[in-house]
Amino acid sequence: MYLGLDLGTSGVKAMLIDGDQKIIGSANGALDVSRPRSGWSEQEPSHWIRATEEAVAGLKAKHPKELAAVKGIGLSGQMHGATLLDANDKVLRPCILWNDTRSYVEAAALDSDPRFRKLTGNIVFPGFTAPKLAWVAKHEPEIFAKVGKVLLPKDYLRLWLTGEHISEMSDSAGTAWLDTGKRKWSSELLAVTGLDEKQMPHLIEGTEQGGTLRSELAGKWGMSESVVVAGGAGDNAASACGMGTVSDGAAFVSLGTSGVLFAANAAYLPKPESAVHAFCHALPDTWHQMGVILSATDALNWHSGVTGKSAADLTTELGETLKAPSGATFLPYLSGERTPHNDAVIRGAFIGLEHESSRVVLTQAVLEGVSFAIRDNLEALRSAGTDISRVTAIGGGSRSRYWLASIATTLGVPVDLPADGDFGAAFGAARLGLIAATGADPVAVCTPPKTAGTIEPVAALSGAYEDAYKRYRALYPAIKSLQR
Ligand code: XUL
Repeated sequence: MYLGLDLGTSGVKAMLIDGDQKIIGSANGALDVSRPRSGWSEQEPSHWIRATEEAVAGLKAKHPKELAAVKGIGLSGQMHGATLLDANDKVLRPCILWNDTRSYVEAAALDSDPRFRKLTGNIVFPGFTAPKLAWVAKHEPEIFAKVGKVLLPKDYLRLWLTGEHISEMSDSAGTAWLDTGKRKWSSELLAVTGLDEKQMPHLIEGTEQGGTLRSELAGKWGMSESVVVAGGAGDNAASACGMGTVSDGAAFVSLGTSGVLFAANAAYLPKPESAVHAFCHALPDTWHQMGVILSATDALNWHSGVTGKSAADLTTELGETLKAPSGATFLPYLSGERTPHNDAVIRGAFIGLEHESSRVVLTQAVLEGVSFAIRDNLEALRSAGTDISRVTAIGGGSRSRYWLASIATTLGVPVDLPADGDFGAAFGAARLGLIAATGADPVAVCTPPKTAGTIEPVAALSGAYEDAYKRYRALYPAIKSLQR
């Protein structure tokens, strides 16, 4: 048996698979995000541990024998968060998360130093880890002075699980301190932010062994003491392992809190000026590119909060048959945007409202706005040399057929639906646990799921969606100039 633990933004998911990769069960522990100021987004690392305990206890209640038989654990997690520890591994402040844009001034300053794009292959986005440390150095110098270690969220979970300071390449590529082509920390870039390699975790590959479970936890969960913890992956690379998106040209679209258009690459293909992320993949010697939008289901959840209707009710009320765009347009920039705009200050908008703009029309506009933002990512990937001819859909938002039809039509590519099952980050993490514990061939393990069906672009509406996308694109500069 193998256990995948995915530390997401809205909760921790624990998933058990057997040696044939059959899913035995899964359980969750919920998390909240604290937003103390506009553009800020934080979580207490102690809550991650509480949610993990809750998720594993849920699994133990349902599958005690199978949990006791676990031989390997894989970790996946929300990327980029700055978890700051003192010399005794005590947490110094709440973790500043991936969708926190407070450090945009520091990010721009680091980005203007050409060494960052050259060595990391990426823009220094405000969501990345390095500018967060630069912000802390400026605004909380007493905390910065005490920093003994900087860990990514899932690696803090590993510290609790194993007692070790270890990270792996895919997540570390999102810090802006990794030499992404060479797969090692850049002491030169760390020094720019006043840090050195001693403050960073030891690096391994996602498929390698990265510690063993502490005996106290093994006893509590009824496991043997030799449980191996794999390097694991950032949540997008972990999802790619779950979806079999590991060979050159394979792609998926993820509709989670964030929205991601992800393509696996056999080689390292940086193109920072496109705002496409070029990161290490979780498998040795492979890389990937992705476009990231900050609010996908987060935009629908915001609309749900405003209307007082659940996200599921809102999408059900819209039906399954794709409608032509109504003329109401939504820009999903609720906490700024990454690809393609790299703009922490921009905020969302509804444009073109009229008396007929009912709740259903607004829901339609929200889903379309996210689809258009993902189309922006497709264009960015194209400009970075990667074309995508079909995608598989994952994430909570992919439960809405309507949304998938709108994405297929906006991108002009078929969207495949995986056959029944849950092939996301927790599953990918469990696969990495299996590989690390058994030494199995990663490519043989990370195969794609069967396809349950394909949602084709709606040809009759393609022209209308293309026009609506052009209107959407034209709105960004206009809103930007209004909001400044
Ligand atoms: C990727 C990113 C998000 C988070 C969400 O760069 O910031 O997809 O990983 O968990």
